[in-house]
Amino acid sequence: MSAEIARRDFLKAAAAGAAGIAAASVFGGASAFAEDQVKAFEGKKKFAGIGSIREVTDDILYVGASDRRIQLFENVYPIPRGVAYNSYVLLDEKTVLFDTVDRSVTGQFFENLTAVLDGRELDYLVVDHMEPDHSSAISEVLVRWPNATVVCTKAAALILNQFFACDISDRSILVDEGDTLNVGRHTLTFVMAPMVHWPEVMMTYDDVSGALFCADAFGSFGALNGNLFADEVDFEKDWLPDARRYYCNIVGKYGPQVQDVLLKAASVDIKILCPTHGPVWRKNLGWILEKYSLWSSYTPEEKAVMVVYGSVYGGTESAANALAAQISQKGIADVAVYDVSKTHVSELIAEAFRCSHIVLASITYNMGVFTPMKNLLLDLEAHNLQNRSFSLLENGSWSPAAGKQMQSILDRLSGTSYTGRIVTILSSPSSEDYKALATMAEAIVASIQAGPINAPEKAETEVKRWVCKLCGYVYEGDEVPAEYKCPICGAGPDKFELE
Ligand code: FEO
Repeated sequence: MSAEIARRDFLKAAAAGAAGIAAASVFGGASAFAEDQVKAFEGKKKFAGIGSIREVTDDILYVGASDRRIQLFENVYPIPRGVAYNSYVLLDEKTVLFDTVDRSVTGQFFENLTAVLDGRELDYLVVDHMEPDHSSAISEVLVRWPNATVVCTKAAALILNQFFACDISDRSILVDEGDTLNVGRHTLTFVMAPMVHWPEVMMTYDDVSGALFCADAFGSFGALNGNLFADEVDFEKDWLPDARRYYCNIVGKYGPQVQDVLLKAASVDIKILCPTHGPVWRKNLGWILEKYSLWSSYTPEEKAVMVVYGSVYGGTESAANALAAQISQKGIADVAVYDVSKTHVSELIAEAFRCSHIVLASITYNMGVFTPMKNLLLDLEAHNLQNRSFSLLENGSWSPAAGKQMQSILDRLSGTSYTGRIVTILSSPSSEDYKALATMAEAIVASIQAGPINAPEKAETEVKRWVCKLCGYVYEGDEVPAEYKCPICGAGPDKFELE
C-alpha cells in the first residue's frame, strides 16, 4: 500500500515536472551523457584542492566537513576527536546532493558545494536521514538552489517541516522501497531503513559506482583529517573504538532493524559505503559488515572481560582489581577494569557490546545500587544489550543490597546468564572474600574457555514488528494497542500491518 502511494507520488511529481525537471529525464530518459561526463570531469579539475572536497569516484565528490570544537555529540557523548558530517555530490546529467550537514559546519559545506557545482544547478537533494546533524542546511540549500527537488520518504518530509517549518510539498519526490531515479548515466535506487535509527531513514544505491549512501550506518565519531577512506587510515587501531561507540550508543538499540538492512545489502553489489559520519569504505567491506553483523545481533565481539566497579572508599575497587588480576593470572589477557564514576557511560556501553563477560561491582547506596552503576544498568537495558554473561559483586557496611537489585535489572535483558554467585563484601574485602573472588575468577575463565562466544538466542529476541502503511514507522510488540497513534503521521492501529 505504502509503496503504491509513494510510487504514485513519484509519478505525479515527474509528470508535473516537479521543480521544473523534465519527466523524461527523471525516469530513465536517454541522455547525451558522454558530453556531460566530460564536462563533469573537467569541472572536477577546477575545484580540486578547495575546502575539504575529496573525490570518492570520478563523478561522486565528498563535500562534507568536520567539527573539532564540539564537546558532546547529541549533547550526550564526549567526542574528543571531533566528528565529521558527510555529504556527497553526484555530477551526472543531473546533479544530486546526498544529505547536508550540521549547522556548525555550514560555512565549509557551502564553500565545497558551490565549488563542486561550479555554476551548475543543483537538481536533486536526496535526504536519507532527517536528524538535524544532517538536515540543518536543507532550508538554505533550497534557498540557494531554488530549482532543486527534494527526494525523500514521506516521513522525512513530515519531520523536515516539524524541525524547520520547511514545507517541500511543491518541490519533492516521495519515494518508497525499490523506487528508482535516473539522473543520466546513473540510476539511484532507494532502500528503506526505518528505525536505523530514526523512522524516516532510507539508503540510496548508485548502480554505476556501487556506492551505498547509507545514512548513519557504518558511521563513526571522529573528525576526518584529510584522509577520507577507511583504507587511508589504520582503522582498527585508530577508528574502531569510536566506530563501535558510535554504533552501540546511537544505533545499538535497533539491532533487528540493522539486521534487516544487512539482509537487503547482501543481495546488492555494494562497492562503496558512504556513511554520514567517519571514513568511506571502498575496500575490505566484509570486515566492517562483519562487525555490524556481530553488533546488531548482540553477539559479543571478543572473548573478553570488562570489570566495572562503583566504589566510594576503595573496598569495592580493591575487590574488582583482585578479580581482574586473578582472571589475567588464569590466562585471560583481554580484561579491562573501569571506574563507573570516572568512565563515560558511552564507553562502557561500547565495551559491553565488545566483551562476552561483564563483572559489575557496586556498593550499596541508599539501600540500593550506587547511582552511576544504576545509570549504567538502565543504559544497557535501553540499548537492548543481550546474550551476555554477568558476574556480580556487592558491598555494604551494614546491609548489602546492591547485588539482587542489579540482578533484577539484568534479568530483563534477553539472553542474560550469570557466572558464579554474587560475592558480598562488608566494607573491605577479607581473606575469605578474596577466596570467593578467586572462585569467581575460575568460573569466568572456565566459561570463556568452555565454548564459543554467546550466540544470539533467536527465539527470545524475535519481536513482532508492525509497519505503519502510511509512513513506514515500526511499532514493536505483540499487537498495536487500540488507542495507539503513529508518532510520525498520527495513523491509528488499523494502518499498521505485521511485517
Ligand atoms: Fe548522524 Fe542520526 O544522525
